[in-house]
Formats: sequence, C-alpha cells, structure tokens
Amino acid sequence: MMQNMKDIAMLLAINHMTGSQYETCASQMTTTGLSALKDSYMKEYEAYQCKNLKLDMSRGKPGPDQLVLSAPMLDVLSSQSDLSASDGTDCRNYGCLDGIPEAKELMGSLLGLPAENMIVGGNSSLNMMYDAVSRAMLHGVYGSPKPWCRLEKVKFLCPVPGYDRHFAICQHFGIEMICVPMKEDGPDMNLVEKLVSEDESIKGIWCVPKFSNPGGITYSDEVVRRFANLSPKAPDFRIFWDDAYFVHELTDEKVKLLNLFEEAKKNGKEDMVFVFCSTSKISYPGSGLAAMGASFHNIQNIKMQMTVQTIGNDKMNQLRHVRFFRDKEGVLSHMKKHAALIRPKFQLVERILEEELGFCGIARWTEPKGGYFISLDTQPSCAKRVISLCRDAGVVMTPAGATYPYGIDPEDSNIRIAPTYPTLEELEPAARILCLCIKIATIEKMIAQASEQEAAPQKAYAIAQ
Ligand SMILES: Cc1ncc(COP(=O)(O)O)c(C=O)c1O
Repeated sequence: MMQNMKDIAMLLAINHMTGSQYETCASQMTTTGLSALKDSYMKEYEAYQCKNLKLDMSRGKPGPDQLVLSAPMLDVLSSQSDLSASDGTDCRNYGCLDGIPEAKELMGSLLGLPAENMIVGGNSSLNMMYDAVSRAMLHGVYGSPKPWCRLEKVKFLCPVPGYDRHFAICQHFGIEMICVPMKEDGPDMNLVEKLVSEDESIKGIWCVPKFSNPGGITYSDEVVRRFANLSPKAPDFRIFWDDAYFVHELTDEKVKLLNLFEEAKKNGKEDMVFVFCSTSKISYPGSGLAAMGASFHNIQNIKMQMTVQTIGNDKMNQLRHVRFFRDKEGVLSHMKKHAALIRPKFQLVERILEEELGFCGIARWTEPKGGYFISLDTQPSCAKRVISLCRDAGVVMTPAGATYPYGIDPEDSNIRIAPTYPTLEELEPAARILCLCIKIATIEKMIAQASEQEAAPQKAYAIAQ
C-alpha cells in the first residue's frame, strides 16, 4: 500500500534532512517546509545537470557484451561448408517459404510446438505480428466471415501496462483498443471472458505471457487454461501470444508457462491461437530468427498468402542459428550466459531503488525473475514530470504513457526501466537520477496539494462573502 501524502513527506524528510529544516518540514507540513525540502533536492539535481551526462534506460536492447556471446555463430558457415538443409534444400537458393526443417524444429522445440505448426520468418517477430494483423485486415484469418477491414469496428483487448509496439500496430490499422488490467498472474480473466463473449467486434488480444513487458509477470496455469477455453462471440477471434521472453530467465529458477497451444488443442480451440517468438535477445536483435506457431488450418491459410509475398526468408541465417545452437539445450545454456551479464544490472537498479525510495513508499516497482524490464509506479500524476526531469538531467527514459494504448496512462504513474543496455557504471548514476527525479516530482505534487489546502479557508471565506 502506498502511504498517505503526509507520511510520505515525513519519511522523505527524515531520510534526507537534518536539524531545523526537518523539524519545520515534517512537523508542520506547510508549503514552506516542503519547498525547503524540494530546494535541497534541486541542489543535488543541478549538480547532476552540470555533469552533462548522456545515459539511456529507454529501450530493452542487449548490451554489446551480450552480442559478443553469439560471435562464434558468424564462423559456423564458410565457403567450405555444406550449405544444404536436412531435406537437401540448398540454403543459398530460392525456396522453403516457411523455413528449413531444422529451424522449424528448433524454434518449435523452444515453444513446445511441433515443427509442422511452425513458420520461421525473417529477423523480427514484431514484423510477423504486424503481417498477421495486416493479413487479417485485408483478407481475414482462417474462418473469417469477412476481411476485418470490411467491418464497421475492429477492437483488440490490451492488457495494461503493456508493450507500446503492439499498441502502435492497432493504432496504425485503426483498431480500437480496450484496456484490461493486469493482475499478479496475468490479465483480469473475468473481464476478458466477459468482453470477448459479448462483443463480436473484439477480434484479438495482445499477450506477453512470460516475463511480460513491462511488468515481468508470467501467466499462471489457471489464466492460460482460461485463455485456452475462451468462447469469443467473434468466430475469428485470435490470441496474439507474443512469447518474446520465453527463455529469458534472469536466475537459475526456471519459470514455467503452460503451453497455450496444447491446452487449446485439448478443447478443439487451437485455431484461436497465434504464437510468436524470436531469437532477438538470444542471438542478435538485428539478425536473429523470428517464428510463428499456429494450427494446421492457420498455417495453411498463412502460407497461401505468404507465397505472394516472398519465395522464402534468409535460410543461411536459419542454418547458422541451427548449427550454432544445435538444439533447445544449446539455447538454454547460451541464455545462462546472457543472464550472468544482465542479472547484476537488474540487481544494481533494484538496490538503488530500495536505498533511495524503499523507506518512504512514494513508488513501487517489480523485481522480475526474467525478461528485460523493471516496471515502476510513481504516485499518481507524477510519471510525465519524472521523465521530463530525467531528460533534462541527461537520462533518457521510455516516455511516460508508452505502456498504455494511445500513450495515455490514466494514472500518469507507470515508468518502464530498461537496465540491460547501459554498463553498470552508467546505470548507477542513471538510477540515482531517476530516484531523485521521483522525489522532486512527488514533492512538487505535495506542494501543489498543500497550497490548495492552505488556500481553502480563504476560498471558503471569499465564497461566503
Ligand atoms: C514483448 C515484445 N515483443 C516483441 C518484441 C520485438 O521482437 P523482435 O525483435 O522479434 O521483433 C519486443 C522487443 O522489445 C518485445 O518486448
């Protein structure tokens, strides 16, 4: 529970101030006392500004040290190599629309899907998701009575906070977005079930089921089972299951996600599921492998449309990945090396958040077991101000509101922290500055509230006159 404003100011003051300043501020809580507290924080802030820092905690990118882990992959193919896939396909040449068999096998084994239910695409799963929505708009999906663009309205459910680029796809295609709150174990399923069963224009839902972006939440078995058993009013409803962080544990603790495709199949509902993943944060974000998993009917339908779009994706890269990683075990042991590099970064940020803010309850944040983000909530109406203060002190953060459809966080409180790209040396000041900006923005809000309270008797008197 967040504490009330008075408690927060007291605690901030206790931690930060001494002597008469503290006495004035904490005991009386006047605007003057709060302003004195703000002034002292501003001195610290200005000292950071003088350093002309350029720090970035905005996007979830692997650091250069992580990219080095995959360097040997670049040498697995040479002019002497046999460049044939397991079915004899010459990977240098045209063909193999849905990927070489061993790449489908590898990606399928990571997702828990048979190779025949997989399509290996280019380097970006976001690209595959965009294409899936684009095809649905233009032609419909398997079983669509009409292309979605012929309908008066198309709506998607968006668990929030969520991934800004999912929301951007919807916005781009004019798909209306309905927010669904995230709970500890996944989206609010009572609401999901109710909405999809009542409204035929709801055609999809975005899910990041493991180590969600940004909340780090993994859906519980019960939530996955409820997804697998949805009874949507739209006959062509699809779950966009973006399993972007499927093997991205930060610790040795393996976090298990129930297999949605298998569960849906038990209910004869596997056509409702589109699964996506990529090796962007396993090998290279710029040149990894993206893949999609779906039912027999969906795969047939998608491949038919893909034939017009391409003769095949980059099979040399597929071969490179398979020869480097070999199998699922190869990927999992590679991911342990990633975890060893980024775990200290998460630990550092969490430690600084605790040191700077843990005592006063003005923010709460996640301590994820995997994925790429820490999600932090400030007091309501503070996030935008925090981000702009950070920017002016040389720290780039993801814009406030980005984790909500249309960029509007109704509480203006969610901030996404991406600790993987900066070095540990860069992260330390960046995290301290973030905490300082949170304190300043919170005090500013308190000052505004306190001056309103102080003005209240005068206003009442004026009205009474
Ligand atoms: C949830 C989620 N999905 C997809 C992506 C992008 O994946 P890709 O690099 O495969 O396009 C990201 C990248 O941050 C992500 O967080």
